[in-house]
Amino acid sequence: MAAIRALPDLLVNQIAAGEVVERPAAALKELIENSLDAGATQVDVDIAGGGVRRMRIADNGSGIEREDLALAVARHATSKIAVPSDLEAIATLGFRGEALASIAAVSRFAIASRAAGRPHAWRLEVEGGAVRPVAPAALAPGTTVTVEELFYNTPARRKFLRTESTEWAHCDESFRRLALAHPEVGFTLQHNARAQQRLLAGGRQGRVVALLGAAFADNAARVDAEAAGVALAGFAVRPAYAAQGTPAQYVFVNGRFVRDRVLAHALREAYRDVLHHDRAPSYVLWLSLDARRVDVNVHPQKTEVRFRDSGAIHEFVRRAVERALAASAADQPAVSAAEKLGLAAARTPPLGPGTGARADPGSGFAVAAQGGLALASAEPSAFYARLFGPREDARRETALPATGDDHPLGFALAQLHGVYVLAQNRDGLVLVDMHAAHERIVYERMKASLGASVPTQPLLVPAAFAAEGREMAAVEEHAEALAALGFDVAPLGPGTLAVRGIPAPLADADPVALARAVLHDLSEYGGSDVLAAHRDEILATMACHAAVRANRSLTVAEMNALLREMEATERAGQCNHGRPTWYQLALADLDRLFMRGR
Ligand SMILES: Nc1ncnc2c1ncn2[C@@H]1O[C@H](COP(=O)(O)OP(=O)(O)OP(=O)(O)O)[C@@H](O)[C@H]1O
Ligand SMILES: [Mg+2]
Repeated sequence: MAAIRALPDLLVNQIAAGEVVERPAAALKELIENSLDAGATQVDVDIAGGGVRRMRIADNGSGIEREDLALAVARHATSKIAVPSDLEAIATLGFRGEALASIAAVSRFAIASRAAGRPHAWRLEVEGGAVRPVAPAALAPGTTVTVEELFYNTPARRKFLRTESTEWAHCDESFRRLALAHPEVGFTLQHNARAQQRLLAGGRQGRVVALLGAAFADNAARVDAEAAGVALAGFAVRPAYAAQGTPAQYVFVNGRFVRDRVLAHALREAYRDVLHHDRAPSYVLWLSLDARRVDVNVHPQKTEVRFRDSGAIHEFVRRAVERALAASAADQPAVSAAEKLGLAAARTPPLGPGTGARADPGSGFAVAAQGGLALASAEPSAFYARLFGPREDARRETALPATGDDHPLGFALAQLHGVYVLAQNRDGLVLVDMHAAHERIVYERMKASLGASVPTQPLLVPAAFAAEGREMAAVEEHAEALAALGFDVAPLGPGTLAVRGIPAPLADADPVALARAVLHDLSEYGGSDVLAAHRDEILATMACHAAVRANRSLTVAEMNALLREMEATERAGQCNHGRPTWYQLALADLDRLFMRGR
C-alpha cells in the first residue's frame, strides 16, 4: 500500500463538492441561500445551459469586505457560527463554511462584492482551486457570484450530469423552493436569456399565487396555528381539489425547505380520512420554531432536519392541518354533533365536499353514537371511545385471532357504504376496511416480486400524458428503478410521456395515475440508489394506487376472496400506513351495546 499523506486542498474541496454540489441545482441553492443569509431583499438569478454553462446570482445584501473575500472561498471559513454551542441553535441557512470553497473547486468561479458604505466593489476569481489576487470592480452594494463550466475539471462528475432540460428543471425547482420559503424577498429568474420569473417581495399568499397559481390558493384551506412557541402557517388544498397528478408539496422549517418523515407522516395523517386514495394533497406550509428545538446539521444538503421533540411536532402539525381542513369544509354535521355531545376525543373524520365515501361511515357512526349516549349509559360511550378513540389504541397491531378456525376472518355478509366489508366469524362481527386491506395485500405481493424483478404488463394502447419537467427528468434519471419496478415509461416528445407497460401485479391500476405517483416519489426522494433507500415508501405509493377504491361494490364472492387473501398475507392486520385493516366486534361487545345481559 502507498504511504499515507494529507490531501492537497483542491482535492479535499473537490471531494467535499461531491456531497455539497452534486449538480447545478445544488450549487444554485447554496448561492441563493448565501444571499438570503446576507439579508438581501432582492436576488436576481441568471442561468445558461441548465446551470452547467453559467449561473450568476446577484444580491443586494450586506456584501463582503475586501479582506474577507479570500476567506469566503476558503474551506471551513464562515461568518455564521463561531463556537460549538452555536451549532445548537442555527439561525442561518448556511453554517459550515463549505459551499463556496466546494463550488469554486469544481468551476470557473468569481465573486464580486461591495460592502455597505464602501466606494466600490472588490472581485476575486478562483480557477481550478487557484485563488487570484483581489481586484477592484464596479458593482452596486451587494454580492454577485458567477459560476461557469461547472465540473469542467472533474470529468467523473460531469459525466453524471443529465440533459440541459433536466438540469434546468432541477434548477427551477431549487429556485421555487427558496422563493416560496422567502416571500419577503424579491426574485427574478432567467434561463438562456429568457425571463422565467419576476417575483415581487410581498406576503405568502401573493408568492403562492405567483408560483403555484391562483387556483391553488383559492382551493386551499388557510392553516394558521400557534402553540408553545411553535407556529404553522400556510395553505393546504381542500380534499375535493387535491390533484390527481403530481402534487405540490412544500414544507419549510425556519425558512428552509425540508423533506422530513415526521412532517410528511403528520400531513398524510391529517388528510387520511378526507382524501380519496388516488389523490395526493398539495400544500405549502411554513413551520417556525425556536432554532434550539430543531437540528439542521444532519444532512450534507441540509434538506433533512431532526426535531428535538418530534412526537409533539407531529401531533401539532397533524391537528393544525386537520382542523384547517375541517373548518373549511362546507358542512360537517357529524363532527359538530359529536363535538356537542362531548365526543371530541372520539375521532370522527371531518367531512369535506366530495370527500368520497370514506367520510360517510363516520357520519353514520356519529349518529349511532348519539343514540348510544341518549341511553345515558357509560358502557356504550366507553365502547365508542374504544372504537374511534385514542389513536394509539387503534394503531396497535391486530393479530389474527388464534381460533384454530380455517377462516379466522369468517365469511362476508355485506358491504357497508362502499367502504367496509362486514363478515361473520365465530366470535361475532368482523369489519374490514376494504381499501386498506387490499392495499396491504398488493403491497406484500409487490414486495415479494421485487425480489427478482417485477414483470411488466405491456399496455395494448400506450397511455400518453402531458408531463411536467420534474416528471420528464425522473424518467431520464431513474430509468433503472422504473424498469425494476415493472414500468415501461418513455418520452414521446417534448413534455409528453407515454406509459407502455405497468407492473404485472398491478395490472388493474390506472396506468397514468400510477406512473405519475411513482415518478413523483422518485423525483422527491432522488439519489442514485433511490430504490434501495426508499423501497418501502415507493411500494406503498404503488399499493395505494392499485388497491380497490372505496365505492366499488364487491360481490359476496369477491369479498370472501379478499378475506381469504388477507388471511394468507403477512401482516394483513395493518395497512401500509400503520392503521388497522380490520376490527373484531365480539358478540359480547354487541350485547353490552344493547345492554343485553348474558
Ligand atoms: N452573497 C453573499 N453575501 C454576503 N456574504 C456572503 C455571500 N456569500 C458568501 N458570503 C460569506 O462567505 C462565507 C462563506 O460562504 P459559504 O457558503 O461557503 O459558507 P456558509 O454559508 O457560511 O456555510 P455553508 O457551507 O453551510 O453554506 C459566509 O459565511 C459569508 O460570510
Ligand atoms: Mg452558504
